[in-house]
Amino acid sequence: MSQIQQVKDAHNIVDIIGNRLTLQRAGSNFKGLCPFHSEKSPSFFVSEEMQRFRCFGCGESGDVYTFLEKYEGMTFAEALETLAKEAGIQLEQFVPDKQDELRSELLAVLDLAREYYHWLLTTHAAGKPAREYLKERKTSQESIKQFQMGFALTQWDGLIKFLHGKKKYSLEVLEQAGLVIRSRSGRVYDRFRGRVMFPLRNHRGQVVGFSGRLLPTLAEGDDEGAKYINSPETLVYHKSELLFGYSELLQAIRKQSRVILVEGEFDVISSAQAHVSHVAAIKGSALTPQHVRLLGRTVDAIVLCLDADKAGIAATQKAIEVVNAEQLSRERPLELRVLRIPGGKDPDDLARSDPKAWREAAKHSISAYDFLIEVAFEQHDANSASGKRSIMQFVAPWLAKVQHAVEREHYVQTLSNRLDVSESSIEKDLKIAARPERRKRQSKSADSEEHTKELTRQEQLERRLWFLVLHSKGDQFLQRLEKFSEHELIMPGAQMLLKALQSAQAHDWQTIARNLPKDQQELVFELYSEESVLDQDYEVTTAEWQRTLTQLKQEVIHGQIQQISDALEKLEQKKELSEEEQNEQDELLRTLVALRRK
Ligand code: CTP
Ligand code: MN
Repeated sequence: MSQIQQVKDAHNIVDIIGNRLTLQRAGSNFKGLCPFHSEKSPSFFVSEEMQRFRCFGCGESGDVYTFLEKYEGMTFAEALETLAKEAGIQLEQFVPDKQDELRSELLAVLDLAREYYHWLLTTHAAGKPAREYLKERKTSQESIKQFQMGFALTQWDGLIKFLHGKKKYSLEVLEQAGLVIRSRSGRVYDRFRGRVMFPLRNHRGQVVGFSGRLLPTLAEGDDEGAKYINSPETLVYHKSELLFGYSELLQAIRKQSRVILVEGEFDVISSAQAHVSHVAAIKGSALTPQHVRLLGRTVDAIVLCLDADKAGIAATQKAIEVVNAEQLSRERPLELRVLRIPGGKDPDDLARSDPKAWREAAKHSISAYDFLIEVAFEQHDANSASGKRSIMQFVAPWLAKVQHAVEREHYVQTLSNRLDVSESSIEKDLKIAARPERRKRQSKSADSEEHTKELTRQEQLERRLWFLVLHSKGDQFLQRLEKFSEHELIMPGAQMLLKALQSAQAHDWQTIARNLPKDQQELVFELYSEESVLDQDYEVTTAEWQRTLTQLKQEVIHGQIQQISDALEKLEQKKELSEEEQNEQDELLRTLVALRRK
């Protein structure tokens, strides 16, 4: 047995997934809300017997390794290592694939870079201006240590000298890690120069990139570019997934069950220094579905603390959409809230100048919808008719999406009071605003129906029969498999499967299936897991079995008749038939009659 199989066998996929999601028993299987797409009712299915999962909603499926890769963002090698370690299995030579190997190398080189920059900041003479700058910004020694901040030298090849010259990493690897830039002439130089460095970690705490803030004292005279620069997208750094501080402050975030999302690195650091440690930064970019999915595992509320300017309002609206879209795949609702700092300060300013005021401010947030209502009233005159209309036009598209009745009524009441109009007028406007949304949803579901029509009827019937066979118990399993195999099956892979399963017994075909090649394993599992098994084990009745088998027979005959009719029609279109063609016509007609009789 391969070690991959051995490690897999040492675990139960139901436990591995069950530790991360809530699964309910459904017959001999388990179901839950799919973590890979948004849904209200469970269509995520885990089979203990086959040690596989599948979602009937989005189609994701796989085994315990695939699950960890998708859910935890692990590589295959990492998933294998993790599971082996948990099971106390010593891995022998394991040959990782090329991508995995490169990934580990990039992570190693990025971690060394972190060490190097940190050393320059904390120890080296050249780090003095950076140390002074941080002192001025009241960044504490503890913060420098906790976030492993660093300093990049002003010269063009400081990092190259260390990682390439001394540690012997190739320039290609440094380039792929995003640490160096290759000019058009082919010359390679350090990406980050003269900057305070922030390691950017993924949710598992691995350094995947950096962000560097220019030292103001070095800014004059040279073309060092933007105040902040970041690693480019690499194999390991994905901007849309990154939350600065999340990994370092995870404990506090988890403890509070909420997270305050701020703009930048210094907002996070100063806030944590002021003992508001449930913070993370989206680094001046938008809240993404990936952020929400990640945060949604640890918190019940995301509190946005962004600039209150136009961009901040747009960002909040966008965030409502993103959170709503992710909402459906959750058991508990994920709340989106907004924290506004009076006086237009950013959290860094406030936390440094008045830590107590920041601690207090951090306790008070309003729901994202209340925020939009506030903004609407700030922007328009609530006393004029046109002002009232503008306010409604601004908030209605958002409030129309609030499903929960009591919550919705809260906003209706607020608006009714503040606009001094009846609640029913508000409701009316919300209904109007909701309309186009509904149309969109309808067209979407029509799309997905079309998708299933791609299989021919014969193939659909064959798949159904596979399903029935695989759910047949005892002797019937082999009997039905035998019966089924008498037909000429057109589904790709059918013959291989038949052969493999015929050597099995009813009680252990899953074991056989688990040891099939990967693509066949996937096929069996797909055939086995139809949506009807989500709630309980499927009871195959003799009537259904027979009926479906008859339907398949008819479909096959029907197809043959169609073929013959087509051929006959072609012959009839000819003016004159050769003798050979006449014979053919007779033969075809005879077969046709025989088929029709069947
Ligand atoms: N940012 C970035 N790239 C830029 C500008 C900004 O990645 N070119 C990110 C940084 O994470 C920054 C955040 O967006 O912290 C907010 O930008 P900004 O408000 O301009 O900077 P501050 O956080 O106020 O920076 P500082 O206090 O260091 O001046
Ligand atoms: Mn700032």
